[in-house]
Amino acid sequence: MATLELRNVNKTYGAGLPDTLKNIELKIDDGEFLILVGPSGCGKSTLMNCIAGLENISGGAILVDDADISGMSPKDRDIAMVFQSYALYPTMSVRDNIAFGLKIRKMPTAEIDAEVARVAKLLQIEHLLTRKPGQLSGGQQQRVAMGRALARRPKIYLFDEPLSNLDAKLRVEMRTEMKLMHQRLKTTTVYVTHDQIEAMTLGDKVAVMKDGIIQQFGTPKQIYNDPANLFVASFIGSPPMNFIPLRLQRQDGHLLALLDSGQARCELPLGPKDAGLEDREVILGIRPEQISLAPAEANGLPTLRAEVQVIEPTGPDTLVFVTLNGTKVCCRLAPDQAPEAGETLTLQFDPARVLLFDAQTGERLGAAGAPMPEARSGNVAQFKGR
Ligand SMILES: Nc1ncnc2c1ncn2[C@@H]1O[C@H](COP(=O)(O)OP(=O)(O)OP(=O)(O)O)[C@@H](O)[C@H]1O
Ligand SMILES: [Mg+2]
Repeated sequence: MATLELRNVNKTYGAGLPDTLKNIELKIDDGEFLILVGPSGCGKSTLMNCIAGLENISGGAILVDDADISGMSPKDRDIAMVFQSYALYPTMSVRDNIAFGLKIRKMPTAEIDAEVARVAKLLQIEHLLTRKPGQLSGGQQQRVAMGRALARRPKIYLFDEPLSNLDAKLRVEMRTEMKLMHQRLKTTTVYVTHDQIEAMTLGDKVAVMKDGIIQQFGTPKQIYNDPANLFVASFIGSPPMNFIPLRLQRQDGHLLALLDSGQARCELPLGPKDAGLEDREVILGIRPEQISLAPAEANGLPTLRAEVQVIEPTGPDTLVFVTLNGTKVCCRLAPDQAPEAGETLTLQFDPARVLLFDAQTGERLGAAGAPMPEARSGNVAQFKGR
């Protein structure tokens, strides 16, 4: 059990190379689960290796329980890591790979056997215990690597995409197991993933990284509902948020966004906003689930008739694509509401959930990191459909 803090951490792999980590600031409380996401090459594994002590940092400090561990060797840090590339001992059996960390800590043999049996059951690898890593599939090797970390009770767990080689069914099972295990053990954890659902469901906090810079650090809900910029908004969410470039207008002191389906137009009232946003090129962001079918009886929300271009039934949802302002826009409907391609639908939008981004910089417009207050309270001007 431990707190983990990164203070202004920088990392460069060599003189003349660009910084791989830039001024990383993160603080996770005791027992928290941090998800680290970002595109390939943004520095996630580098950050994990720095925390584990396998790479030296070039500046800043890493603190565990408020003590600076930056200069400590990996074995003294009491941090267990599951690597993206398993890193199993090839000549040892699965059983010995899992038991290795316990043996060097001189745990009694009976306890080691019980611990190996426990994690092997958890990870469904009981039948593989006598094999060598070379005789396992990628997914099985990955589970052994997890088993090796889980057999220890370190201060901190680091998981670098631990489930990425598992098949879809096992991955979902393991995700639930990870969560159960964390609820039980409450060990401070940093977990790298590319999986949207893991990012949203597993973490107490999420850090979104790009080019070695933390773009946003917050709860999954904050990251999803109040993305700090266009990058975070586009990276989190599947299917992704729709982005519609347009120029804002002002009418009677209220900002309006004009949406055009080719068949009809609607003015999306965005509430009274800071001066300076009118006439500005912005990117309007709206998530697929925030566009719905308009009910038969008007409820005051803006509506717009649009032709369905294509539909994609995913099982639980049907994704319906229309064109607004010349941009392909995805709407997420219930399967029983699903139209046919070529039909015309009346869609409705919730202006309170619309986000605005600067078209040039990608920064969020309105209150920093949060929807604009008047939009959030739903206090928006009555829509004028045409
Ligand atoms: N040992 C190294 N020497 C030099 N450059 C390195 C080294 N390891 C990583 N890099 C570079 O640092 C950057 C970050 O790499 P890193 O492996 O941390 O990315 P990542 O976010 O984990 O990517 P992925 O999602 O593909 O695993 C990349 O540009 C990579 O080429
Ligand atoms: Mg990596």
